[in-house]
Amino acid sequence: MIIAPSLLAANLGRLARETARVDASGADWLHLDIMDGHFVPNISFGPAVVRALRPLTKLFFDAHLMCSKPEILLEPFAEAGANQINIHVELGEAVTPLLWKIKSLGRKVGLVVNPPTAISMAQPYLEQIDSLLLMTVNPGFGGQSFIYETLPKVQQAFAWRSERRLAYRIGVDGGVDFKTAAECAHVGADTFISGTTLFSRPNLGGAVKKMRKIVEAARLKGFRSQSAKSASRLPVLNPQLR
Ligand code: DX5
Ligand code: ZN
Repeated sequence: MIIAPSLLAANLGRLARETARVDASGADWLHLDIMDGHFVPNISFGPAVVRALRPLTKLFFDAHLMCSKPEILLEPFAEAGANQINIHVELGEAVTPLLWKIKSLGRKVGLVVNPPTAISMAQPYLEQIDSLLLMTVNPGFGGQSFIYETLPKVQQAFAWRSERRLAYRIGVDGGVDFKTAAECAHVGADTFISGTTLFSRPNLGGAVKKMRKIVEAARLKGFRSQSAKSASRLPVLNPQLR
């Protein structure tokens, strides 16, 4: 299980100290939300900030590009020290060359699906990716409420991964708190991006530990209930999101 605090929820006036806080917390990844003011109605930070943070930690940097033209940003983020670069499936025909470019830069390849986008949009790319990130809020801002309708997509991503014997990670991003993290883990998520919930705790290490314990317990519970053939109790995927 990967726990990835999202830096967007940190105190942006003290990024170096906040990065050190994540480094010491026992978290696995640092999630970096990159917003261009066009793909989403907000602007965050760019490669120069990532480059400045890179020497401060050995944490895996997970860059989430909410950008209309990620092609101009892949090399800068790879050079700045991103370990994984996620691009959105909503970019359509640009997706294939972008995934190849990320791979050619020697970085892990991530694909992201927005809440209103059908999960079938991601299906053609499953063999090319290291991570499938399901947005559980509409991207652009931290601190929003988890959208429950997205939960069956996690279940679908999990089913595809087992059927096709693939190994991509299944992530959830947005409104992930202790309760929703458990619900996501129960249906197959293994990577938890969480901003507000983790950073709002003075004891970040304690919050990371608590989230890890909760998702590990929920995963075991999920496996047990599936083996007990109680999968029919799980939520049904809205036909428009299939
Ligand atoms: C939303 C971002 C998320 C966000 C998560 O656009 O992609 O990573 O920072 O923050 P919380 O946990 O506050 O919803
Ligand atoms: Zn994100």
